[in-house]
Amino acid sequence: MSSRDQFASKIGFILAAAGSAVGLGAIWKFPYMAGNHGGSVFIILFIAFLFFISLPVLVAEFMIGRRGQVDAVTSFKQQAPGKPWYLVGYLGTIMASLILSFYSVVGGWILSYLIRAFTFRLKSGDSESFEQLFHAIIQNPWEAVFAQGMFLLITIGIVQAGIKSGIERASKWMMPTLFIFFLILVVRSLTLPGAMEGIRFMFVPDWNQLNWETVLLALGQAFFTLSVGVSVMITYASYLGENEQIGSASIHVALMNIFISILAGLVIFPAVFALGFQPDAGPGLAFVILPAVFEQMPLGSLFVILFFILLLFATLTSSISMLEILVSVVIGKRRTNRVRIAWIGGLLIFIVGIPSTLSFGIWSDVQIANKSIFDAVDFLTNGIGMPIGAFFISLFAGYYYKTSVSKQELNTHPLFYYVWLILIRFVTPIAILIIFIQGIRNVF
Ligand code: PFF
Repeated sequence: MSSRDQFASKIGFILAAAGSAVGLGAIWKFPYMAGNHGGSVFIILFIAFLFFISLPVLVAEFMIGRRGQVDAVTSFKQQAPGKPWYLVGYLGTIMASLILSFYSVVGGWILSYLIRAFTFRLKSGDSESFEQLFHAIIQNPWEAVFAQGMFLLITIGIVQAGIKSGIERASKWMMPTLFIFFLILVVRSLTLPGAMEGIRFMFVPDWNQLNWETVLLALGQAFFTLSVGVSVMITYASYLGENEQIGSASIHVALMNIFISILAGLVIFPAVFALGFQPDAGPGLAFVILPAVFEQMPLGSLFVILFFILLLFATLTSSISMLEILVSVVIGKRRTNRVRIAWIGGLLIFIVGIPSTLSFGIWSDVQIANKSIFDAVDFLTNGIGMPIGAFFISLFAGYYYKTSVSKQELNTHPLFYYVWLILIRFVTPIAILIIFIQGIRNVF
């Protein structure tokens, strides 16, 4: 490759960025985090943080990436020569790799479900409920580790093929199809008897549930779901040509994400209450509830296959973005050896992820700061790494960039520009600082 790939079209870039953003964060993590932390209170905080804190950082990452046209670390080095800003790129690379280490655990669960769905074994039998089925899958160390490895193999396969052919082609039709699927599922879930209790859980706030840990976790979720704070979006925007509108692309990505998150909630919570489950079931929530909803539909055992295929793709469009940042940073300006670096990086991430997989089974007793290994890695990345990364990115775009530079990059109506500038200079960094300090004090 003599010159860097670029996205072939604007819609290709938006879909790829949205593909990175929309994934397990919206469909798997958002419902169980909301379920564990008081439903509506978490959801309200999450939406507010997404628009006022996470979205401005997304815009900033797009700016930094497009200006640099190189990997995240080199981008900071070029734009701030001799200054330590590039450490933000390294921090992001490490964090994104750690996220992938546990993301691939859940990706593996999807593969396990898919194999069962293909053989029509994804149903609650007389002797086995969906909860038991889920636990049987995650507790079996061989199956879980094998499935995690398979998921990473697919991720590596796409990343080594290069940005344009792999990512853009895949994103184009999968996201809209997934969206339609969710609409159908929402209708089914909302028409179950007793569904309204789930709506109440999602939208009527119980402010007694408000505490600093919930606030920090909602902030972490707002970052996680937009893939913000770990320089992944810097990496993607580095493939972006000069003429694209960064502002509208960011808003598109954020809106798509909110929609899918809320739709996932509207499928899961009504069904939780209608079918007699608990909202605070933890990481298994979506995996227990979604098949149960399909079981309530005609031809459900066929649709569930399609659904898990789409979910797998949505998950892959996120996982490839995490491996992509590692590969691009290691490749740097050399632009060679993409294949070898993708394999070695993927293998290392696999090894680092094995303890997270086992923490649902044979290592479930191991605790780090009162959390399972999986939860600890999740908290380290989401609760600590992402806010720190986002904080520095907001300072870089807000203060290090001259306003003439950011104005030209954003290239939008002055009103929008100044709203963004105020958010990125004052609201984002100050809010992150307060929430981070209070949240961390609360957790430890
Ligand atoms: N945004 C992805 C999701 O919600 O599933 C997760 C993610 C992707 C987080 C890429 C971080 C990242 F760098």
